Amino acid sequence: MQKLIIKGRKELSGKISISGSKNATLPILAACILANQVKIKNIPLVKDIFTMIELLNFIGLKTKLLKKKNTIEIINLEKKINTLAPYKLVKTMRAGVLVLGSLLTKYKKAKVSLPGGCAIGTRPVDLHLFALKKLGAKIKIKDGYIYATAKSGLKGTNIKFPSISVGATENALLAAFKARGKTVLKNCAVEPEIKDLIVFLKKLGANINCKGRTISIKNVEAINSKVVHEVIFDRIELGTYMIAGALLAKKKLIIDRINPKIIKTEIEVLKKIGIKITQKKTSIVIKESTKLKKINITTKPYPGFPTDLQGQLMVLLTQVKGVSKIKEEIFENRFMHVPELKRMGAQIEIKNKTAIINGPTKLTGAEVMATDLRASVSLVIAGLIAENRTIINRIYHLDRGYEFLEKKLEKCRAEIRRT
Ligand code: UD1
Repeated sequence: MQKLIIKGRKELSGKISISGSKNATLPILAACILANQVKIKNIPLVKDIFTMIELLNFIGLKTKLLKKKNTIEIINLEKKINTLAPYKLVKTMRAGVLVLGSLLTKYKKAKVSLPGGCAIGTRPVDLHLFALKKLGAKIKIKDGYIYATAKSGLKGTNIKFPSISVGATENALLAAFKARGKTVLKNCAVEPEIKDLIVFLKKLGANINCKGRTISIKNVEAINSKVVHEVIFDRIELGTYMIAGALLAKKKLIIDRINPKIIKTEIEVLKKIGIKITQKKTSIVIKESTKLKKINITTKPYPGFPTDLQGQLMVLLTQVKGVSKIKEEIFENRFMHVPELKRMGAQIEIKNKTAIINGPTKLTGAEVMATDLRASVSLVIAGLIAENRTIINRIYHLDRGYEFLEKKLEKCRAEIRRT
């Protein structure tokens, strides 16, 4: 099994270019089932994306991945279509369930494996199914699979989500794409990745309007062929490197290929803590920051502070004087990095949904275990600031979502290698 070995306390300087967003690419790939011929640029070469491509191939789409160009070309020849997403492809990547909306609306039936729980919580799909049922689908759960049918097609309607879900909003949008008439979705997630999916669906020919948390969509009349789309940058990758830079940049760390307007909350939070950030049109510069201030924060759906940066922010707060608090409102079990950070010397206590961080504490290298994607990267940041050597096990979690992590950090003078 591969490990990362990090020799900490090296200053970070230079430039990091941010990759395309994994969480935007996944639903866009699921939307390709609805398309004829598309080219998608700026896709990150990470494990979850490879799994989704494998799933599209299994379904019967023709895909050509141009790795050097971070581009994929996809054609749906409508031959030998399998309306099935098998367990082996959905179990490692929950976003596999997103093909449900596309398959059902286009082929009127789908059999998709239930993704099951994962390390950060139970993560049900009841909200996805709630929306599909409202659109007229008949749903049955049997043998770990969702069996969905809509013999005479889906029909547009008004749907108000009882709570906000990124995946359920995406699945409902995909299903509504070909549902007869107009669908109005209320209390939607409005993450930038969902906005990117909407841009893509509009390029395919959809008529979609967004106002606050309400999205309305009229059934598509004609699907445009030869659509080209460039995926937005990965705001979580950006936030991760901003936090690493906040802790380790002396002169300056430049992070480019981004749009700072999309991460206003993250910038505001980091500035409040005392991080020196300069914003440019397509880049951000982080300079040495001293006199860091404690903060209390709660993770929330966009435009709130993202749960996907909670672990990374916690590492930063271990270096801040005083008691800071982070309340995790999105997932019930997303503090698994805490025991590992404590083994490295952090003083963190968990009370219900809140982590109480007492800083500053000197972190020292240790052998630690990665448990999920974002927890893993928070251990990488901890390793980068710790004294001595940190060994991170189970780094396959990192490979699910961070493109060229070691290469990008090494280029900025970090000492990090994979064995
Ligand atoms: C997406 C992101 C993930 C991010 C999360 C929250 C992708 C591929 N993943 O995950 O990185 O951490 O948004 O920003 O884009 N829920 C239900 N029933 C459902 C669906 C969700 O109760 O049917 C709950 C979840 O358990 C969780 C909350 O709603 O507590 C939010 O989850 P959701 O927004 O759906 O996250 P994902 O789409 O799975």
